[in-house]
Amino acid sequence: MIKGKKTLMPDALIDKTEPSFNAEPVLDALIVGAGFSGMYQLICLRDRLGLSAKVLEAGSGVGGTWYWNRYPGARCDSESHVYWYTFDKKLMQDWDWSERYPEQPEILRYLNFVADRYDLRRDIRFNTRVVRADYDAAANLWRVRTEAGELYSARFLITAVGCLSTANVPNFPGLEQFKGDWYHTGQWPHEGVDFTGKRVGMIGTGSTGIQAAPVIAKTAAHLTVFQRTANYSVPARNVPLTPEFKRWIKENAEEIRSLTHETQNGQSFRIETRKALETSPEEREKIYEAAWERGGLQFRAVFEDMMSSKAANDTAADFVRRKIRSIVKDQATAAILSDIDHPYAGKRPPIDTDYFETFNRPNVSLVDVKAAPIECITADGIRTAAAEYPLDIIVFATGFDAMTGPLMAMNIHGRGGEALRESWNAGPRNYLGLQVSGFPNLFMITGPGSPSVLCNMPVAIEQHADWITDCIAHMRANGLDRIEAQQEAMDSWIEKVNQAAAATLLSTVPHSWYLGGNVPGKPRVFMPYAGGMANYRRICDDVAAAGYPGFEMSASERVAAE
Ligand SMILES: Cc1cc2nc3c(=O)[nH]c(=O)nc-3n(C[C@H](O)[C@H](O)[C@H](O)COP(=O)(O)OP(=O)(O)OC[C@H]3O[C@@H](n4cnc5c(N)ncnc54)[C@H](O)[C@@H]3O)c2cc1C
Ligand SMILES: NC(=O)c1ccc[n+]([C@@H]2O[C@H](COP(=O)([O-])OP(=O)(O)OC[C@H]3O[C@@H](n4cnc5c(N)ncnc54)[C@H](OP(=O)(O)O)[C@@H]3O)[C@@H](O)[C@H]2O)c1
Repeated sequence: MIKGKKTLMPDALIDKTEPSFNAEPVLDALIVGAGFSGMYQLICLRDRLGLSAKVLEAGSGVGGTWYWNRYPGARCDSESHVYWYTFDKKLMQDWDWSERYPEQPEILRYLNFVADRYDLRRDIRFNTRVVRADYDAAANLWRVRTEAGELYSARFLITAVGCLSTANVPNFPGLEQFKGDWYHTGQWPHEGVDFTGKRVGMIGTGSTGIQAAPVIAKTAAHLTVFQRTANYSVPARNVPLTPEFKRWIKENAEEIRSLTHETQNGQSFRIETRKALETSPEEREKIYEAAWERGGLQFRAVFEDMMSSKAANDTAADFVRRKIRSIVKDQATAAILSDIDHPYAGKRPPIDTDYFETFNRPNVSLVDVKAAPIECITADGIRTAAAEYPLDIIVFATGFDAMTGPLMAMNIHGRGGEALRESWNAGPRNYLGLQVSGFPNLFMITGPGSPSVLCNMPVAIEQHADWITDCIAHMRANGLDRIEAQQEAMDSWIEKVNQAAAATLLSTVPHSWYLGGNVPGKPRVFMPYAGGMANYRRICDDVAAAGYPGFEMSASERVAAE
């Protein structure tokens, strides 16, 4: 476990009534992970299909991302009225969000509310990390081993392990000798961290660092932000929701849901059809200014060509750079912050509350670690090629081994003992993002090859869990108990994934985590499907309607005899 010198304390969310689990009888389905994905997949399989299904979860409570990421300033960037489950109309009526972008504790409360409402905890085993999974071809079963050595057997294995759940702590020499405390934002202590009077160093200026810096700066004696790649950010403009807006959400919940199914990003706003390059500079400026004032991820949606044309994107990039320079008073700091080397939204675009303004505080300074890289951690702080910075606390806002990291960590072995780690040696390959040839009855929720992180994720998660549920229902209705993606289907899907990426500017940013560029040694392959969520949904629906071409389904001897 990656954490500072303080232990993760149990909190009120710890499940105190853990059910006893046995390796037998064989389960219909074993789900790994109890975040948005695993919780909904359990509802689908257990309550909708009546299967025996269990969830194994490494954490001590439900929530996934929102269980682990308790760093100061953590909140979602999707607006609250689309960042929730939509499978149950009544559930949407019975929950009220308080803000445009709820904070982590509120989202965690929501997920616990869902767990209570559908009585999910009785089938979730907490504090249980899966460390190995083997497909037993003779029995047509997955044999799953936990860190504590328990064994589970299940017909279907469903990974709901998240795309951003494996913390990436760079391997800086000397960390073990640091005398202060250090924390990764994705494994934040439950009891919180008191920055009062401390000299804090924060490494990383992605969405996380950009959220955390303004909050840490409020109590720290001094905050030093270590920036490698300068980043864009647009104001979030968070506000409490008015009673009228809350009422509007309830009255329009179904329409909002339909809209999130029609858009390519799973959001409730459409990408405009106008083009930046066909709009006059004056008009463009007005449009960007209005989007800046409105705030949020919608900034990316104001021109249709923003993510496909570098020249169009330059107009947005130039606008944000000018904003940074106008907000940050110290011109040397402003120059480092606005010296951005990639297209706007070429990496996941952060949104913020007073991020650039934070650099106007007397207790905040910026260090350019692109110009003078971090050399090591010393007993007293961080040493770069240019200077040493004495620190009491280091915050690693250094992101995740995204998308493939949690899957690789499960140590999955398919038919004939083939390791997923080996078959994905040169990058992930699968069919529809759902299944890998050689790994029968293994389904992945929001894995690589699916829109996942390029989409408002609850929409992608519900689509995947529903599709998997319908597929298993189809198999059971037809006396089938084995499904495996075919190699040719996988090859042609990967070609589509690559083509979709090449049509956007997303694949042009070598240090993006979308390409594995943030983890040394990771293959540089664009992982998510960039062809759009609505298009992807249609493709998956068509495959199901046509009887699952590209998948081979069969009945094992046992089922055939029944
Ligand atoms: C700080 C932050 C903010 C985000 N904000 C947004 C947002 O605004 N909008 C948006 O769409 N998305 C956002 N995301 C993405 C977010 O991850 C998804 O929205 C969503 O929460 C993912 O749910 P999940 O259940 O698929 O995965 P997770 O929530 O990551 O849950 C996966 C669970 O699997 C468990 N697990 C993993 N491996 C194992 C194992 N081997 N054994 C047992 N358990 C295991 C983990 O402990 C974890 O609890 C954000 C991500 C982060 C990190
Ligand atoms: N509210 C939200 O919606 C929200 C909030 C937080 C996170 N998220 C999700 O989680 C994803 C990950 O965000 P994140 O900010 O945690 O991670 P991230 O986007 O990968 O950013 C990590 C930061 O750490 C820096 N870094 C990594 N290794 C380093 C090293 N060795 N030396 C110096 N700097 C280093 C990176 O620099 P380089 O850029 O140079 O690699 C980058 O600035 C987001 O993209 C988003 O999808 C969402």
